[in-house]
Amino acid sequence: MTEARDRKQVKLPAEYEAEQQHKSSNIDRRRFMNYTGWLGILGSLGIALLGFLRFLFPRVLFEPRTEFKAGNPNDYAVGAVDTRYLNSERVYIIREEDGFYALSGVCTHLGCTPAWLASENKFKCPCHGSGFKRSGVNFEGPAPRPLERHKIVLAEDGQLLIDKGKLFRQEKDEWNKPEAFLYL
Ligand code: FES
Repeated sequence: MTEARDRKQVKLPAEYEAEQQHKSSNIDRRRFMNYTGWLGILGSLGIALLGFLRFLFPRVLFEPRTEFKAGNPNDYAVGAVDTRYLNSERVYIIREEDGFYALSGVCTHLGCTPAWLASENKFKCPCHGSGFKRSGVNFEGPAPRPLERHKIVLAEDGQLLIDKGKLFRQEKDEWNKPEAFLYL
């Protein structure tokens, strides 16, 4: 009887090896589950961290400024088409007897910069020959409509303040609007 029991407890090498392999495959599976668990946790933490960093550095669109100050009204001669801000801002500032308007230096045909020809009292576009009167109204060449005007007001410090982000179009009857012309 004892002999039979002892025989049951003593394992043959093949059985022993199979048991060891089973154990080791169990351990491997457990390790694998551990690794994937940790990977999942670390992945979630990484995503949460990225979200936090994204919150700290929001995507902000920095748009170029559209306003600029153009000095004291008395710096401008009555009747002059002033070109001092043409290169930097592409804007003509025109002073009349009763006030100012700011004319865009962008041709309404394909966007070249019309030149002011004082002797001919007109703007002439060098690209395709469009002509614009002193007021900005087109009268020759392919330009389909007048030059645009920009908002012009007096700043608190008394300087001219021009906003290129605000446009007034003659064909839409917008040149009569208050900020399209600065009355003095
Ligand atoms: S771009 Fe001015 S006429 Fe063509």
